[in-house]
Amino acid sequence: MNAVLQPEVRLEVLHEDMLNDVVRIEQRAYSHPWTRGNFADSLKSGYHLRALWSGQALLGYFVAMQGVQEVHLLNITVAPEFQSQGLAVLMLDALRLWAQTQQAECIWLEVRKSNARAIQVYTRYGYSRVGERKNYYPAHAGQREDAVVMSLKL
Ligand SMILES: CC(C)(COP(=O)(O)OP(=O)(O)OC[C@H]1O[C@@H](n2cnc3c(N)ncnc32)[C@H](O)[C@@H]1OP(=O)(O)O)[C@@H](O)C(=O)NCCC(=O)NCCS
Repeated sequence: MNAVLQPEVRLEVLHEDMLNDVVRIEQRAYSHPWTRGNFADSLKSGYHLRALWSGQALLGYFVAMQGVQEVHLLNITVAPEFQSQGLAVLMLDALRLWAQTQQAECIWLEVRKSNARAIQVYTRYGYSRVGERKNYYPAHAGQREDAVVMSLKL
């Protein structure tokens, strides 16, 4: 059952003091979540981190890294109780607008081959499959899982 959204949502710069909330969502959203250290390193590296809020509730967040004329989306997550309400699309819009201001020509990302829902959201948004990376992700019982590489031309 989805939680009902308050009418106003806002996108904020993601700060260190939000990381407790971020990690709580991360652990509920993934089988192999990022650690607090992964987010702290992203902040230290000057990556583009944004958090989506409604009142005091953290709804989701994303992490992106700028490259040469390209942007790499490293993490995009919506809290499970707020999924399927257009919030990933809203963050993908914010990411695209920011990438355009950075003169990026494309955005690219990796996604687990088994993550059909995320692949569907990216495909509907306009991302195309451009390749695969074999054994890219850790999986259950010491196994590995392939990544699908997707890209959006700007
Ligand atoms: C993948 C993930 C980010 C998608 O987030 P989401 O918020 O559920 O995605 P959205 O709701 O934006 O997806 C688009 C859907 O919303 C609909 N939508 C778009 N704008 C909308 C709006 N304003 N109001 C309501 N629905 C809207 C779209 O039509 C689409 O419909 P669908 O549910 O029939 O596909 C989310 O499932 C998630 O965090 N999963 C776990 C972490 C993960 O896998 N991250 C990706 C790793 S690569």
